[in-house]
Amino acid sequence: MTIRISGTGSALPEMIRTNFDLEKTVDTSDAWIRERTGIGQRHIAREETVASLAAEACRQALSSAGAEAGDAELILVASCSAEMLLPCLACRVQSDIGAVNAAAFDINAACAGFLFALQTANAYIASGMYRNALVVGAEVLSRITDQSDRSTCVLFGDGAGAVFVQACDEPGMGMLGMVQGSDGGRGAVLQCRAGHYADADNEAFPFRDPYIHMEGGEVYKFAVRTVPECIGQALLQAGLEAEEIDLYILHQANIRIIEAIAKRLGVGMERFPHDLERVGNTSSAAIPLLLDELHKSGKIQRGAKLVLSGFGAGLTYGACVMRW
Ligand SMILES: CC(C)(COP(=O)(O)OP(=O)(O)OC[C@H]1O[C@@H](n2cnc3c(N)ncnc32)[C@H](O)[C@@H]1OP(=O)(O)O)[C@@H](O)C(=O)NCCC(=O)NCCS
Repeated sequence: MTIRISGTGSALPEMIRTNFDLEKTVDTSDAWIRERTGIGQRHIAREETVASLAAEACRQALSSAGAEAGDAELILVASCSAEMLLPCLACRVQSDIGAVNAAAFDINAACAGFLFALQTANAYIASGMYRNALVVGAEVLSRITDQSDRSTCVLFGDGAGAVFVQACDEPGMGMLGMVQGSDGGRGAVLQCRAGHYADADNEAFPFRDPYIHMEGGEVYKFAVRTVPECIGQALLQAGLEAEEIDLYILHQANIRIIEAIAKRLGVGMERFPHDLERVGNTSSAAIPLLLDELHKSGKIQRGAKLVLSGFGAGLTYGACVMRW
């Protein structure tokens, strides 16, 4: 038993912040941001919350699957920017959409969070414990980004994406390969302190503000080395070659990272769709946001072979191969 995605949904805040807007607030330029990252704009939440974006993405995913909120048996929300510690975001989403029959909890694996949540849903469903799940990635990273720090504020954006997954026992369909890993010893490369621990001593994490701090170059090197390796392992499990994959849906951190990964895999960039020009890096929301866009525009058809891969703070990384 494995899972197949039967519906997708997404939500973006109304407000858009372009590179030209950022030129007015920090020492940067549209040309620098585009050349180094590929990002042109990002959505920034004002009225919207992580929970409201996640709930809207879930409603759409249910409707796209032809399911009702009451059908959902499990809700997994991946996020690293929830506004509340308690209750968890997934319980708030459960209440907002009226999914009264679901068990709900959060997963935080930063930008690999959605992928980890999807693989968790797969494990639950494969065990027979649940028959379906809503898997969500939702972030309001603008709240944990120092908007005066040009090294981070140009990268991150807000949004949410969700999928509704169901048990699948059709041979050769659904999840065909799954890899995940973590390298906690390198946590200091990308970190953000919880606001209420601003005064606590912690030698490993010296920054005392509640904002993202990143060694960009280290993250870049980690991604271009680790992601092709773990995609290779997932392909091996699936018994597929890199060129047999129709679409590679990667975490949308930086176009140069995506290009470097494509090159290492020996696959043309036309198989690596991207939306980071319009939404920036939305962490755990990035993969399901892009999945929803591709699904709604008819670019993913039944039978399509996909690779999903995410990486981020932790450090965490993972990949899966699935047949839609
Ligand atoms: C962040 C990143 C775009 C920086 O690109 P880079 O080519 O490595 O650039 P550098 O950090 O070497 O900085 C080059 C110069 O640009 C400057 N710079 C940094 N941010 C800038 C900005 N927004 N605008 C203009 N200049 C900037 C730096 O201060 C540096 O100046 P210096 O040479 O005078 O010291 C790149 O490292 C990256 O994408 N890393 C991965 C980050 C990521 O994806 N994180 C999320 C993972 S989930």
